[in-house]
Amino acid sequence: MERLDKRLAATGRWSRKEARELIRAGRVMVDGAPCRVPEAKVDEQAPVSVDGAAIPAHGMVYLMLHKPAGVVSSTVEPGERTVLDLLGEEYQNIGLFPAGRLDKDTEGLLLLTNDGPLAHRLLAPKSHVDKVYYVEVDGVLGQDDVMAAQEGIALGDGTMCLPADMELLSRNSAYITLREGKYHQVKRMMASRGKPVAYLKRVRFGPLTLDERLPKGGWRPLTREELEAVVRQ
Ligand code: URA
Repeated sequence: MERLDKRLAATGRWSRKEARELIRAGRVMVDGAPCRVPEAKVDEQAPVSVDGAAIPAHGMVYLMLHKPAGVVSSTVEPGERTVLDLLGEEYQNIGLFPAGRLDKDTEGLLLLTNDGPLAHRLLAPKSHVDKVYYVEVDGVLGQDDVMAAQEGIALGDGTMCLPADMELLSRNSAYITLREGKYHQVKRMMASRGKPVAYLKRVRFGPLTLDERLPKGGWRPLTREELEAVVRQ
């Protein structure tokens, strides 16, 4: 059992003081009934919601990682360095996994969490969460590539991609925004344009933007604002 205000504050979304105000205002439900007592002891597994939105159970962790190249996105892979190997001891056995995958040679933003339902929701094909990649290619990018991306590129095996946005940055670099996540999608899209990917980095995942202050291999918990935005997604 733990105090209700503490349980809300543990999500990182509210301070203890804000949590107490929410509770006293009658905006918090425990087990389906309003609870206006901040000190109330609640079971750690009891469903708690604020304004009708479920809040993560106690112990949920949400980390933003700047994945470096050379590290795999799975949690266990013999002979490989995994994203979990980049984290401290205290994060090793709490069920963290990456919400989505980046190739071993792809860098950039990865959300690590042990909140299965949230990760599932973000990754569900129907969620169409925006993913923005910075890409450099071997070859010269032009308006024809932008238009092809907007129409939906056919991959080598005939699979059609959803329309994607492409913003040209230089002759050989661009931002590409995808709303789906097919296997090796950016690389296959560029290959089908005859311009193979030379470098790939994810800079945005839904409402999260890679914190450029994080060095490669660096990580930090999501801020309260980031977590709120992700939960709302
Ligand atoms: N598309 C790719 O080709 N690779 C990634 O890692 C992510 C998107």
